[in-house]
Amino acid sequence: MKKDLWIGGEYRSASSYMELKNPFNLESLAQIGIASHEDVQAAIAAAEQAQVRMAELPAFERAEILEKVVRFLKDDRDECARIIALEAAKPLKGARTEVDRTIMTYTFAAHEARKIHGETVPMDAAPGGQGRLAFTVREPLGVIAAITPFNFPMNLVAHKVGPAIAAGNSVILKPASQTPLSAYKIAEYFHRAGLPAGALNVITGSGRSIGDILMKDDRIKMITFTGSPEVGRYIRENSGLKRVTLELGSNSALIVDEGVGLNQVIPRIVNGAFAYQGQVCISIQRIFVHENIFETFVEQFVRETQKLKAGDPLEEDTDISAMITRGDVHRTQSWVDEAVKNGAELRLGGRAEEGIFQPTVLINVPSTEKVSCEEVFAPVVHINTFNEFNEAINLVNDSKYGLQAGIFTNDIHKALQAAKKLEVGGVMINEIPTFRVDQMPYGGVKMSGMGREGIKYAVEEMTELKLISFKTE
Ligand code: SIN
Repeated sequence: MKKDLWIGGEYRSASSYMELKNPFNLESLAQIGIASHEDVQAAIAAAEQAQVRMAELPAFERAEILEKVVRFLKDDRDECARIIALEAAKPLKGARTEVDRTIMTYTFAAHEARKIHGETVPMDAAPGGQGRLAFTVREPLGVIAAITPFNFPMNLVAHKVGPAIAAGNSVILKPASQTPLSAYKIAEYFHRAGLPAGALNVITGSGRSIGDILMKDDRIKMITFTGSPEVGRYIRENSGLKRVTLELGSNSALIVDEGVGLNQVIPRIVNGAFAYQGQVCISIQRIFVHENIFETFVEQFVRETQKLKAGDPLEEDTDISAMITRGDVHRTQSWVDEAVKNGAELRLGGRAEEGIFQPTVLINVPSTEKVSCEEVFAPVVHINTFNEFNEAINLVNDSKYGLQAGIFTNDIHKALQAAKKLEVGGVMINEIPTFRVDQMPYGGVKMSGMGREGIKYAVEEMTELKLISFKTE
């Protein structure tokens, strides 16, 4: 199968192609177009032209387009899940959940399209301001470049395309090279739903060269990126006065206090650590357990993890499958080996079979180890102890990242202390840090990024606030 570029409402041949492989069995899935400089320019021109039409589309029409996309996704739920499973090696159960979340994300975008509004401004609150009626409106920013990662190839596209279209912008989407098929599918849905040609363009190829063109072009008003901190920083530093939102990495932590019912929480924690092979920005990577329950916790955690079934992402009962590339398997192996060499104790896993890295549990890991202080983005978790509650908070905060953190405790004072002191974008009390529903504000502090997703919040980022003041006297 050959996949051309989607520009101006139609497929356009590329001058060269790259092979897309199934990460599980390395079989060829498609030949994917590599956008040249001219192709990127064509996508920008198409988006700029479509922007005029988008800015004029009434809210109800933008909402109806998004609602149609929701209907197509519901009709094709199984087919979409299969695409995700094939190109991302996401086990079907998780792939179906992702499609369901994508449906919710576009549903929220349709609701939001109908609700975008400004507010009245009390100009007479300042001397000299009397005799005026003033209000704000939110206008579309213009052309938005969206750069999306491999790990949620439909839903993280939806988190950028949904609010952008809801707010009347046009979009150039550069999906991850490993997972372009989901993005092309979504472009086809928008086309069928009646989105003006050019309002959504999908280009694939070298992230660096496409990104460089998008960052330098003044017709692009915003770059919204999800991916690594290194690339995020590069985009921030090279995008001039464009608006930039960055959803970057994390080494998410969870505190488990004494007194918590372990039977209830452990299956959920295992899921938060190993779902989609740990390749989730808010995957649980560091667990801090009160020393009084540490050994029991570790034993039960290991037992629960052993129940996970590794295999083909297309099999219904698979829990864990291949990592996105063999290179990531090797990197993970070297980080785990290094941690063990430096004093960590391996309680489970620690080895790879083909592309599948076994779910791995380490204990007593020094915080300077890469599996602790870097984003591991793999099925590797470590469990350490704490004694005083403040110590646990400091351990969580001892990180260059700050996306989400979780805490299980029965003590309301500790919960409130955690809410106040944890340096993250979201504190999950009696919940894992991996928790996300798609309307909530989502984003990080420190090296985890800037700006917020969650449709309402993304719409704020993707619109310009304009003040209108009438002198009435
Ligand atoms: C991410 O990996 O940043 C997204 C996590 C999610 O949407 O659940």
